[in-house]
Amino acid sequence: MRKVVVSLGGAFLKDAESIRGVANALNELSRLSKLCVVAGGGERARECIEIARELGANDAICDYIGIAITRINAKLLILALKNAYPEPFQDYRDAAQAFYASKRDENGFWKVVVMGGVSPGHTTDAVAAILAEYLNADLLLNVTTVDGVYEEDPKTHPNARKYERLTPSELTALVMRKEMKAGSRIVIDPVAAKIIERSGIKTVIVNGKNPENILKAFKGEHVGTLIAP
Ligand code: UTP
Repeated sequence: MRKVVVSLGGAFLKDAESIRGVANALNELSRLSKLCVVAGGGERARECIEIARELGANDAICDYIGIAITRINAKLLILALKNAYPEPFQDYRDAAQAFYASKRDENGFWKVVVMGGVSPGHTTDAVAAILAEYLNADLLLNVTTVDGVYEEDPKTHPNARKYERLTPSELTALVMRKEMKAGSRIVIDPVAAKIIERSGIKTVIVNGKNPENILKAFKGEHVGTLIAP
């Protein structure tokens, strides 16, 4: 059975409708593979981080606020999954033990492990990469709101070129140039890129606005950007 870790952008957890949309694809995936999902914080996290910053909080404090929101989002996602552990895990080893113990229910869904953030200094992309490394996952899926990795943010640079494939070290070089602050917007965070580089986990960055892309990437169809040595 293949082991898959999904880093799910918080944009897909903003309301019940978007959560249901992405949960359908994740439920399907949990029939085909053993699955962990790491929930992002999205705009809800950015808003709270912004308020904290205005009140004088430093980045570490803002990071903890972001983590709290990702855990709330993780809990919301759990509500929409067919067969998931009832609470988000807060520690990689606890998550891994639950993952190893995961069984199929009577409808064939493996019990899904869900996490939010863990510690300051990175985003949930890094949490997903560390968990994927810990579990020797076969695939790390980074589900985002753009079609893959671009030379510049396509939301602000509409003519930016998309990469179909990058090596882990090319990805690292690309994202290392970006500023890393609590709540910052990068397609994948530099800590995650470094973990992907050292572990060599096959990674695909896909647009989750069409949740079918999650299943396509799992099945090996080319969608988004493939990160592989
Ligand atoms: P996200 O993982 O949601 O950031 O964490 P992101 O990937 O930029 O956003 P989306 O969800 O894909 O849009 C939100 C914030 O929470 C803190 C960071 O400040 C991060 O920017 N965080 C999260 C941590 O400090 N540690 C964690 O393990 C996770």
